[in-house]
Amino acid sequence: MVLQQNLPRPPSKAPQRSLELSIIVPTYNEAGNLASLIRKLSQVLSGISWEVIFADDNSPDGTHRLAKEIALADPRVRCLRRVGRRGLAGACIDGILSSSAPYVAVMDGDLQHDEAILLRMLHTLEDSDMDIVVGTRYREGGSAIGLAGHRGAISRFATALTGWLLPVPVSDPMSGFFMVRRDRFEEVAPQLSHDGFKILLDLLATARNLRISEEPYLFRAREQGESKFDLRASLEFLGLLAAKTTGDVIEPRFVPYAFVGALGMVVHFVVLKSALQGAGLSFEVSQSVATLFAMIANFFVNNVLTYKDLRIRGWRILKGLAIFCTIGAAGFVANIGVAHWLYGDNHVWWMAGAAGALIGAVWNYAMSSRLVWHLR
Ligand code: GDD
Ligand code: MN
Repeated sequence: MVLQQNLPRPPSKAPQRSLELSIIVPTYNEAGNLASLIRKLSQVLSGISWEVIFADDNSPDGTHRLAKEIALADPRVRCLRRVGRRGLAGACIDGILSSSAPYVAVMDGDLQHDEAILLRMLHTLEDSDMDIVVGTRYREGGSAIGLAGHRGAISRFATALTGWLLPVPVSDPMSGFFMVRRDRFEEVAPQLSHDGFKILLDLLATARNLRISEEPYLFRAREQGESKFDLRASLEFLGLLAAKTTGDVIEPRFVPYAFVGALGMVVHFVVLKSALQGAGLSFEVSQSVATLFAMIANFFVNNVLTYKDLRIRGWRILKGLAIFCTIGAAGFVANIGVAHWLYGDNHVWWMAGAAGALIGAVWNYAMSSRLVWHLR
């Protein structure tokens, strides 16, 4: 009661109907698309009470400034500017959690998702006991023609891989377009991963009991700006798959780390061969030089890829590198120790070798995550 009395009275122009739908739009450099998107939304949603929340990661092109300027004149528009963070999934999660509408949709800000199906999605949720409606490109009536060239091939491959590994009963688990009951989302929000692109896949694999409906749509081609899907996003997707197929035993970040480790092996052998055969150095010296090169290369690639969000800069790089190499040396000892012990036991060389390498990699990952990049 006390709280009630202290609250300001709502302005007389307050909307008659309570808010039904929040549309969360993650944005990174989408200034050129904002106005068209808002126009399209107001056309298709004219009969209901809605708002759009742009979850912007401090875009250099000023998307957040433009969004707030529009919001000043249009109360249906809000903008959540996030600083010191990057990631489509994390932006969507924060945006949804900032909403108080009973239904929330997630939709891209580049006009590739067809706003025309939003109303149908809303009616499905309101009129049935479904928890989530997923926009699909891979059902009768849908299409992915807007996915250009290799991006289309990657999407189809990722869809097939997911269908094979995870029991998610949808035709388009890669979709970034869906509408969900906010209370169902809030239940699982603390378990969701903030990295990467695959918020829907994570949601379906984490909250296994959602009642799912699908709505086909035409995925349009992007006209303004460019896609932010890159190598890191692909590795993050594989990491999410690994985590979800192993019941979260594997951390998603281990996948990019292991990928960088494999690149390090390539560096190692190239340097080893050049030192041995090119420079005519002894094997011991060549092997040491190659190890050092590979470790330094791994450190820098991890710093910009695996730990991009926790990136070390300036003089602290030297300290990080020193700790990384020390951890690597200890990991090497553990690797040899385990391999030697297993080999002595059963004499299957490749099993002993693989087990040693795995132990070394897990040790390096766990220790450098904590001590070099200060994860959590
Ligand atoms: N806040 C924030 N932070 N937004 C981001 C980030 C980020 O790090 N990266 C991308 N976005 C925004 C973009 O500005 C855009 O509005 C939306 O997320 C989708 O990004 P695109 O870069 O256009 O991705 P895409 O077209 O290759 O893939 C999209 O569509 C696919 C099909 O639905 C994504 O939504 C995929 O997840 C989806 O599979
Ligand atoms: Mn896009």
